[in-house]
Amino acid sequence: MAAAEALFAFWRDAGVDACFEEAPVDRTVFVAPVAAKGPATITPLRAPGAAPAPGEAAAEARRLAAAATTLDELAEAIAAFEGCPLRAMGARQSVFARGNPQGSLMIVGEGPGAEEDVRGQPFVGQAGQLLDRILTAADLLDEAFITNTVFWKTPGNRTPTPQEQAVCAPFVERALALLKPKAVLLVGAAAAKAVLKTDDGIMRTRGQWREWRLSEGGIAAPVMATLHPAFLLRQPQAKGLVWKDILDLSARLRGEVVEPGA
Ligand code: URA
Repeated sequence: MAAAEALFAFWRDAGVDACFEEAPVDRTVFVAPVAAKGPATITPLRAPGAAPAPGEAAAEARRLAAAATTLDELAEAIAAFEGCPLRAMGARQSVFARGNPQGSLMIVGEGPGAEEDVRGQPFVGQAGQLLDRILTAADLLDEAFITNTVFWKTPGNRTPTPQEQAVCAPFVERALALLKPKAVLLVGAAAAKAVLKTDDGIMRTRGQWREWRLSEGGIAAPVMATLHPAFLLRQPQAKGLVWKDILDLSARLRGEVVEPGA
């Protein structure tokens, strides 16, 4: 038993935290695909229980998101949505948001980790506790509505893929439309790349104001990226950069920023 537990601990520490099939598959053995018999078909077939194709899934996400008229309804729509492939990769539940649903600040992180997966709320692990301490120090915690670019934990806590983020994006955008925050803070490189639609690194994008404008409904909000608190746990010397960004954010929320042209 001790040996089995040690082996599981080894795999968990290596990032293997989910089983996808009943029996192990030897991926080192190449099995040639069996040629299809009969007339060719152009209808893609989906295995029972498998996630829909990304385009189909994003369309379904847009439909469900648009039908939600409150943030609570949006949470229910996300919990019922089966189109994100992460759902079938070992996640226990969907993790949508926590914080003030009337808040003036929307915060978007990367995606839930192991702790968030268990508790069903974003940013409740070590990184989340640091984020809360930063927001409290700036007197912004009560204003914050906190969510992520994806709503299911990734296997081994890897960065979500752009496809996984794209499938979940209609829900993130609907959250923006329903909350109508005065400002949005993107936390970490994965959130910055997904929302700002850029390949620039976070050291280049952080601290700069952009506009996040939705293609439908005339909704827009000023948006800024900053470093992820998980990065700060590893590199505490970078905290000063985040504090600078947070003070800038705080000034904007308090109306101390003169808009260009105002
Ligand atoms: N990191 C994130 O980006 N989001 C969470 O919810 C937790 C950790």
